[in-house]
Amino acid sequence: MPVDIAKRSDGNYDTHFYAGQDEIGKDGVLRIAKAYRQKVAYPDFLPAWNPNEKYPPLEFHKFEDPGLRADPSFPNLLNGKVTLKPITPKLGTEIKGLQLTQLSDAAKDELALLIAQRGVVILEDQDFVDKGPGYAEEYGRHFGKLHIHQTSGAPEGHSHLHVTFRRPDRTEFNRVFRDKTTSIGFHTDVSYELQPAGYTFFAQLEGPESGGDTLFADTIEAFERLSPHFQEYLSTLHVIHSSKEQAFNSKSNGGIQRRAPVTHIHPLVRVHPVLKKKSLFVNRSFSRRIVELKTPESDLLLDFLYSLVENSHDLQLRARWGPRTVAVWDNRRLQHSASVDWEDPVTRHNVRITPQGERPVEDLKYLNDPTYFPHRDEEEEEDDDRVVYSKY
Ligand SMILES: [Fe+2]
Repeated sequence: MPVDIAKRSDGNYDTHFYAGQDEIGKDGVLRIAKAYRQKVAYPDFLPAWNPNEKYPPLEFHKFEDPGLRADPSFPNLLNGKVTLKPITPKLGTEIKGLQLTQLSDAAKDELALLIAQRGVVILEDQDFVDKGPGYAEEYGRHFGKLHIHQTSGAPEGHSHLHVTFRRPDRTEFNRVFRDKTTSIGFHTDVSYELQPAGYTFFAQLEGPESGGDTLFADTIEAFERLSPHFQEYLSTLHVIHSSKEQAFNSKSNGGIQRRAPVTHIHPLVRVHPVLKKKSLFVNRSFSRRIVELKTPESDLLLDFLYSLVENSHDLQLRARWGPRTVAVWDNRRLQHSASVDWEDPVTRHNVRITPQGERPVEDLKYLNDPTYFPHRDEEEEEDDDRVVYSKY
């Protein structure tokens, strides 16, 4: 079957409106087909795409990490009823005996610290999702300024949420595998933004009885596997991240564009402000090239780093979802991938809350410095027409 280049996917391929399958209302708003809308368990969280919703470019803001405010002995988060179970020795913790809705602000700060330390925490059967989209937005604001996605569906009136909705229809699977041999696509959410995602919530509203797991990979551990000499070299490099391809995909499917697409340069190795550790900050979905290198050199090196993260199963875990499961992870540290491995035509409906983190820095002396610009080389900037610099 010939590959339709215009339908190629980068980034989150499950976030788009599909003209011909979904509906365009008389008010111009794009919605999931009515037959599917009527079947869902959480209609308040159904995605919609309003083409009239437009936003200016995101601007720098200071990020105050809630993990840095936390008491490291966790007196507010952990009490006699709460149990923690590690998923792997270094990565991931299942928390039982706790409802997110019951946490005080001090306990939320401690949750952030625990997420930073463990990469991801998973909580089953949370009443969190029953309180509606407005509650979810307000909750997320404790962890950072909420991101509005450039193209994805959001509940009507709640643009700060990001909904992934897989229709109960076999065309979903055909679409995923049209030009791919696997549904696996590791990435960091919105790494192309000036201040990409930090502490990120993802809640399952409904889904298949089994399957649809999320895979997580630890980029701190990946960095620490490298030789000191190579670590030192990588720490001098910077990478262009782009949202243009994701924007193109949305447009080619009849979807929307809330903000102009962006490119930003980030350090290849970033330092975590809470853990003070270095991690590899590149991902196959949104990283495009290493600024300091020639294209073949950049391709070779990026491919090695992607493979290191994606194929090292000993720095990964697999999270399973049940009804009302909530996973919260540190997008600065982990990459993740969906897994489309079920075939029954059932709805898979999830909502993401995406607080933004700090502008990634290669050295904490630049943390929250509005004048920091990665790879500022005036001479090269003028001469180099390969690189599209944004005004940031
Ligand atoms: Fe994602």
